[in-house]
Amino acid sequence: QTRTRIKEALAAEGARDRITVRGWARTVRRGKEVAFIALNDGSCFASLQVVLSPELEHYEAAVRCGTGACLEVEGALVASPAAGQRWEVHARQVRLLGSSDADYPLQKKRHSFDFLRSIAHLRPRANAFGAVFRVRSALSFAIHNFFRERGFLYVHTPIITANDCEGAGEMFRVTTLDASAPPHSEGNIDWSQDFFGDRTGLTVSGQLQGELFASAFSDVYTFGPTFRAENSNTSRHAAEFWMIEPEMAFADLAEDCALAEDFLRYLVTFALQECGEDLVFFNERIEKGLLDKLEALAAAEFQTMSYSEAVQRLEKAGRSFEFPVAWGADLQSEHERYLTEEVVGGPLFVTDYPTDIKAFYMRQNDDGKTVAAMDLLVPRVGEIIGGSQREERLDVLQGKMTACGIDPQHLWWYLDSRRWGSCPHAGFGLGFERLLMYVTGMENIRDVIPFPRTPGNARF
Ligand code: 4AD
Ligand code: MG
Repeated sequence: QTRTRIKEALAAEGARDRITVRGWARTVRRGKEVAFIALNDGSCFASLQVVLSPELEHYEAAVRCGTGACLEVEGALVASPAAGQRWEVHARQVRLLGSSDADYPLQKKRHSFDFLRSIAHLRPRANAFGAVFRVRSALSFAIHNFFRERGFLYVHTPIITANDCEGAGEMFRVTTLDASAPPHSEGNIDWSQDFFGDRTGLTVSGQLQGELFASAFSDVYTFGPTFRAENSNTSRHAAEFWMIEPEMAFADLAEDCALAEDFLRYLVTFALQECGEDLVFFNERIEKGLLDKLEALAAAEFQTMSYSEAVQRLEKAGRSFEFPVAWGADLQSEHERYLTEEVVGGPLFVTDYPTDIKAFYMRQNDDGKTVAAMDLLVPRVGEIIGGSQREERLDVLQGKMTACGIDPQHLWWYLDSRRWGSCPHAGFGLGFERLLMYVTGMENIRDVIPFPRTPGNARF
């Protein structure tokens, strides 16, 4: 018999004489006359109530199956007298596909996110994580929809690469795992163990290759995993995260910001429309006021402020920060939060950062001190997008590379795009996990990615 997804069963138009569902028992409860199993198959937040009467064959075995057991239930879908659900299933046949027992770590009670992280292999079966990973999946599709509707080409940029796009020295090295290889030391690295003799690492960003494709296809985007060997233990940084990076030929910084704004609004609107049930859960249990916040974002225009103005606002804040504020220093997350939460009360583009604190590829402004960069900051999360107009002038770009200590020889292929048919262009990177933190209200990046990679966290 064909299986009906629980989401479909719960949304049925009318009763059905015969239905087959499969899923995992969230709870098993013996009543006075009958027993109840709440069955969940991940297709939606809600579980389907299965009613078992003692006449049922294998009744005792079914009732002893244990929380977490996997079951197949065949029976009738009938109107439920219980509050909060329209339908329940009266079982005619229950098949235990995989039993469980009292050692199952996800027994019915509230678990801390810390504990659930330690059982990342089982947590997808917990309510909150069901909701997180459904939203994650839905937004992945929305991202592709958005760019497809606008005629962007989807390009797969490499994971293994020799270039450090951000120049921040945060690349993981790629090498062959070989237990018998001689130990590496600082001064005597055996590159022959690396990528067939080449010095390579895991990409920190697909941008440089994205720029090459924008120089051929005009509007492109990448969406893939990126890696940062950043040994910081914060709730917003992961060593492996997913990034969406559009790149547009013939665009300047203002058009870049306009795309970022449209994009974020589209994604939030999509989540409100497609993930309503899950967002209601987040609104009730994770971040009070989440739905109002998302609806406000979908409706309002984002504000913009230059870096210099942001520094002035911070200096006039009338309070002290842990990190001092001074023109030329990067904004820390406490500063970003102050600006979005207390100054504008919503998303904020900060533009035109000092040249010295930004990457080599950003376009130099006429003032000689700043670059055409933008960061989009949002309340609670801080920086969610980083982008810029790119330096398209060959001589200026070469000068900036030298100033940043990058050997232009190393990026000869990138420079070629400025040599032949160079064009003004701009792009940005949206951190997918930061977006998910914003949309779900989850407070730790480790809780919006299936198997987080952070220092000390490479199991599973
Ligand atoms: O600001 P970033 O470093 O910019 C770039 O990589 C550019 N090449 C993007 C571009 O213009 N195409 O990173 C972009 C975004 C950040 O705003 C943040 O949302 C996210 O990526 N991000 C991280 N997310 C999780 N963990 C980390 N360690 C992250 N580092 C950056
Ligand atoms: Mg950044």
